Amino acid sequence: MTVSIPRLKRAARIILIGAPGVGKGTQTERLLARFPQLASISSGDLLRENVRLRTPLGIQAETIIQSGNLVPDSMILDLISSELWKRGWLSTSHRSSSTDGTKSNSSPSPQNPVPAPQSPAKISPDASFILDGFPRTLSQALSLDSLVPINFAVHLVTPPSVILSRIAKRWVHEPSGRVYNTDFNAPKVPGRDDVTGEPLTQRSDDSTGTWYQRYHKFEETSRDLVAHYADKGCLSRIEGNSSDEITPRLFKAIEERFC
Ligand SMILES: *[C@@H]1O[C@H](CO)[C@@H](O)[C@H](O)[C@H]1NC(C)=O
Repeated sequence: MTVSIPRLKRAARIILIGAPGVGKGTQTERLLARFPQLASISSGDLLRENVRLRTPLGIQAETIIQSGNLVPDSMILDLISSELWKRGWLSTSHRSSSTDGTKSNSSPSPQNPVPAPQSPAKISPDASFILDGFPRTLSQALSLDSLVPINFAVHLVTPPSVILSRIAKRWVHEPSGRVYNTDFNAPKVPGRDDVTGEPLTQRSDDSTGTWYQRYHKFEETSRDLVAHYADKGCLSRIEGNSSDEITPRLFKAIEERFC
């Protein structure tokens, strides 16, 4: 069977917004497989990578993390900016004509040779990506807009009761990351990994109470985020009770918008 590969006609800069457990990771993987032009840019991966490679930003971030603090938004933005420059997706040669009055005369600090996110820059039309992990709040979205505006935000919606029953059926083999589901992908021997025979676990933070806490926090912070992208006219709400239900709707929405 041959499947034609849909080509994006213009740059897609996508974020997926969804409650914990809605399956953003699954949808991201499927999007990357479906649209080869898409890359995944994960703020968490960038952070870990920079710490590992001991880049100036990584060293700064590590110090902050070790002192028990959260890496500030500005630093995450610098990481993303740095990655986009590295990929050649940002360049100063095309100066944006934006007149939004944001300051643009701050020179890069010695610790951060990467041009500051405020410097007007234009993203290449070939640069299509799903941004993972950022922005999670309205203020993060606003600062991202001044660097590289998202042009498609997808709000994935599954009823909490459905997510919770799915979580209860999920078993993980921690060392390999293999995931089982007692409904449709059960291990051959209950509670045991198919490959190694080692015991499977259920993440303790998957417990209902913890999930609700994270869900309420998500609902609280995502409200303004969703409204922001709705205002900009680039929000799509996609509902479904399973990843398999959501995927074709997501593909269709992206094809309609970018292909
Ligand atoms: C999705 O789940 C909800 C809650 O269990 C149910 O009411 C609804 O009918 C389901 N929708 C589909 C399409 O299965």
